[in-house]
Amino acid sequence: MSAPSVKSRLTQWASCAGCAAKMDANTLGEVLRRLPPAVDPNLLVGLKTGDDAGVYRIAPNLALVNTVDFFPPIVDDPYDFGRIAAANALSDVYAMGARPLTAMNLVAFPKEGLALEVLHEILRGGSDKLAEAGVALVGGHSVTDPEPKYGLAVTGLVDPARVVTNAGARAGDSLVLTKPIGVGIITTALKQGVADARAVAQAVESMAQLNRRAAELMTECETHACTDITGYGLLGHALEMATASGVALRIAHRRVPHFPVALQLRALGVAPSGLAANRRAFNGKVWFGDAVPGAWCDLLFDPQTSGGLLVALSEAGATRLVERLAAEGLAEAAIIGRVDARERDALITVE
Ligand code: CO
Ligand code: CO
Ligand code: CO
Repeated sequence: MSAPSVKSRLTQWASCAGCAAKMDANTLGEVLRRLPPAVDPNLLVGLKTGDDAGVYRIAPNLALVNTVDFFPPIVDDPYDFGRIAAANALSDVYAMGARPLTAMNLVAFPKEGLALEVLHEILRGGSDKLAEAGVALVGGHSVTDPEPKYGLAVTGLVDPARVVTNAGARAGDSLVLTKPIGVGIITTALKQGVADARAVAQAVESMAQLNRRAAELMTECETHACTDITGYGLLGHALEMATASGVALRIAHRRVPHFPVALQLRALGVAPSGLAANRRAFNGKVWFGDAVPGAWCDLLFDPQTSGGLLVALSEAGATRLVERLAAEGLAEAAIIGRVDARERDALITVE
């Protein structure tokens, strides 16, 4: 048993940091493969492509979009934890080009040791984020658990003809990333007590930011494919897109928006456990050019929480999207690479 004083900060209640708590991709894949295949013709997007959310047709021009996400505290402020968890859960609906409508809270909270006020603040953060997104909270479920956790199940609507999956990227497309990466390393540094307050504040604001406008603008720019960047890191989710789309991706590391402090912390030895798991799971399918520094390779595997959207669209569309995002204050969004025809083993080339 650890002394109560050790757990005075909320992140000390988490056995690992944020979306880094996600199970590793290969292990999960093995378990899911043994489930019976889906046969319902109305299930338009299911487990098979590792997409962000499920899509189920309920009328010729209307489909439900379903997703769920929850994890242990990644920041010490319970209100921030709540709004980050909500922005993260909504993100999978936005990534499908859909509009979130309703949400349900998922809560795990210890019987003793944490004040109920902490739970209240977590839920207030979530509910404020839902209000900002125009999403109705319709209920939830809570269990007692020594490790607190929070997240939401979200339901959205989309026209089946307008669903954006991770399977539509085409050779010749450009790749846009809408938020900086590195929040996994920064929140791990926070948990270890070695992050400076300014770096944490920047990471918190980035994670708490809704992907709503990015998603609305991408659908106006004739997007071919999209996914949001979360626990598997930029490279893991890019690999899902490359695999599902049958293409290869080329990423220019110097163009990838990131928190420079994450590179510094990585050089000091800070690494979320999920980073190594991601590297183990995905490394064999990524080719790194000689010009890519080691710390950068790690950063590209860094598990994100509530990361940005990775969007594949025409070159002209990508330029327009980045301009429109910048005009709305999302100045970090950038074109980070392009989509190629698949010719060799490496699904992703980083140069
Ligand atoms: Co996602
Ligand atoms: Co997902
Ligand atoms: Co998710």
